Amino acid sequence: MTEIEARITHLRKELDEHNYNYYVLNAPTISDREFDRMMEELSQLEAQHPEYADPDSPTRRVGSDINQAFTQVEHRYPMLSLGNTYTREEVAAFYERVRSSLHEPFTIVGELKYDGTSISLTYEEGRLVQAVTRGDGVRGDDVTENVKTIRTIPLKLRGEGYPRLFEIRGEILMPWTVFEKLNAEREREEEPLFANPRNAASGTLKLQNSAVVATRQLDAYLYYLLGEELPGDDHYDNLQTARTWGFKISDAMTRCRTLDDMYAFIDYWDVNRKNLPVATDGIVFKVASLSQQRALGYTAKSPRWAIAYKFQAEQAVTRLNSVSYQVGRTGTITPVANLDPVQLSGTIVKRASLHNDDIIQSLDLHIGDMVFVEKGGEIIPKITGVDTDARILIGEKVRFIDRCPECGTPLIRYEGEAAWYCPNDETCPPQIKGRIEHFISRRAMNIDGLGTETVDLFYRLGLVHDVADLYTLRESDIASLERQGDKSARNIIEAIAASRAVPFERVLFALGIRFVGETVAKKLANAFGSIDRLAAATEEEMMQVDEIGARIAGSVRAYFAHPSTTPLIERLRAAGVQMELSAERQADRSDKLQGATIVISGTFALHSRDEYKELIERHGGKNTGSVSAKTTYLLAGENMGPAKLEKATKLGIRIISEEEFLHLIE
Ligand code: IVH
Repeated sequence: MTEIEARITHLRKELDEHNYNYYVLNAPTISDREFDRMMEELSQLEAQHPEYADPDSPTRRVGSDINQAFTQVEHRYPMLSLGNTYTREEVAAFYERVRSSLHEPFTIVGELKYDGTSISLTYEEGRLVQAVTRGDGVRGDDVTENVKTIRTIPLKLRGEGYPRLFEIRGEILMPWTVFEKLNAEREREEEPLFANPRNAASGTLKLQNSAVVATRQLDAYLYYLLGEELPGDDHYDNLQTARTWGFKISDAMTRCRTLDDMYAFIDYWDVNRKNLPVATDGIVFKVASLSQQRALGYTAKSPRWAIAYKFQAEQAVTRLNSVSYQVGRTGTITPVANLDPVQLSGTIVKRASLHNDDIIQSLDLHIGDMVFVEKGGEIIPKITGVDTDARILIGEKVRFIDRCPECGTPLIRYEGEAAWYCPNDETCPPQIKGRIEHFISRRAMNIDGLGTETVDLFYRLGLVHDVADLYTLRESDIASLERQGDKSARNIIEAIAASRAVPFERVLFALGIRFVGETVAKKLANAFGSIDRLAAATEEEMMQVDEIGARIAGSVRAYFAHPSTTPLIERLRAAGVQMELSAERQADRSDKLQGATIVISGTFALHSRDEYKELIERHGGKNTGSVSAKTTYLLAGENMGPAKLEKATKLGIRIISEEEFLHLIE
């Protein structure tokens, strides 16, 4: 073994150990900084010495930004679901069924029912070889690359005595704190929110880019071993053994010897689950002995040796007084239920989301109805049903409005969307005010001193009708208004003046084009360089840009096609607002790669992969994930996949090094 190889092996071993201490045991023994330093050293050594590559190296936990397509795999053992119960009587009936079938003593293991997305992991010779989603229970998606980024899932097992080949199943979860942060971020970017951590976890697991998965901080609990050579006959003991192999096994597991033990387990966790970092939706009871499990067998859909008890979602009953409709800045109409105040999971609820027309229809709501309100995984409480028995006098049926509550314009519904829109973006007040508020917000033009109330006042007084009007405001206009002194007037005018220097990419975001959040605005600004070039671009040209799909391209096109857009842009331009990238940034752009489709593969020394992606876009080229007859160049780094190389050679595609690429755009 060379010195370098020994160092690489040592670093991998150390990093695996620290990963385990940190993520599985929650007990780190070194500082984050020290950890990062070791990781950096290992990354560098691996980049310099591809001959020592290892697919299970801790550096692989960061994922890759190569787009993957998932292959479907058949499960070695089908992934069944569990029978659900909701009452103690049903739990007692399960216990009784087991007792009368077995005619011998047995124990039951109580576990939490984790509310995530289930996964089946296959280990061979102590290495993770495959991770497959549940799919339809018979076949699922191979998501191995994504699962490898989850720090609590061991790539290589620790300890000893594990079978040569086995499967372990469990739940992939997004912790509450991560979920909340992710949604807050998505809200800022105007991306659709995840309804609950379960959807967020399964959505993340299906992302094509494992580097993004790595940033989402998923967690996993394992609860079910499968294989021909498991350590012993007891499910509980086997999972404790699996813990010594490095798996994260819940501490909440308990052996229950009697029905009362089972009830006690339910009672305890029904309360204490609220303190867990991840979502749970019930309890699972399993017969502990594997031979007894085999004796009990399966029904067509689920095992006879296990059952789920579902927690009651926290629910309250209250009266529906009215439904109001809010108009967003892009014209979306959101129905909101106004309720008699009621206590629910520690807060007083007065309003609940009704989401959209389809949901109102399916609930068959009438004013005055007693409705069930729930706070499930969702942030905003929702109405889940109507207590029709409590309907003595039936009120007016709730019908979705057909005109905008603010401006009276007939509403429209776009093909394939659940929401109704007010199409009157010209004169509908909340849309106008909403656009101005968005324009001045901190992450957009950052115009300090102007709040919602001031915008509202300016609008009512006819001072500001669109965002370009802001730039014609004079100090004297403002100072004469109620509650505005000379000083604050001056501050507002100064803040507006300063916004002229805000870079083009943020101006593009500030315009409030539907589906154009901060990230998208940045990508479009970099790719097109100026508002004129973007306005002239076709949808196809926009879709050449990384992460810009038909939905966004269509919305940008529609924005520029709108008759009021060009005059508005011209007024903003005349006011001195940035309508193109700075000269400095412009100089970095060209159309030298116009028409070229480039695949990036391997690792690079001079720039990161993301930097190369950006360079390709800035010079008019297109970056794609896989080699095809349409590929112009294959930008090849170190350690490139042999399959790609072979395909490129076969198709006669030009393979270029980083130096050659940089020369192309010089
Ligand atoms: S055991 C054959 N244990 O609930 C039984 N499942 O409806 C295999 N789940 O698909 C599952 N926590 O995704 C088991 N402690 C636990 C669980 C659990 C959550 C999920 C799992 C399964 C579904 C069953």
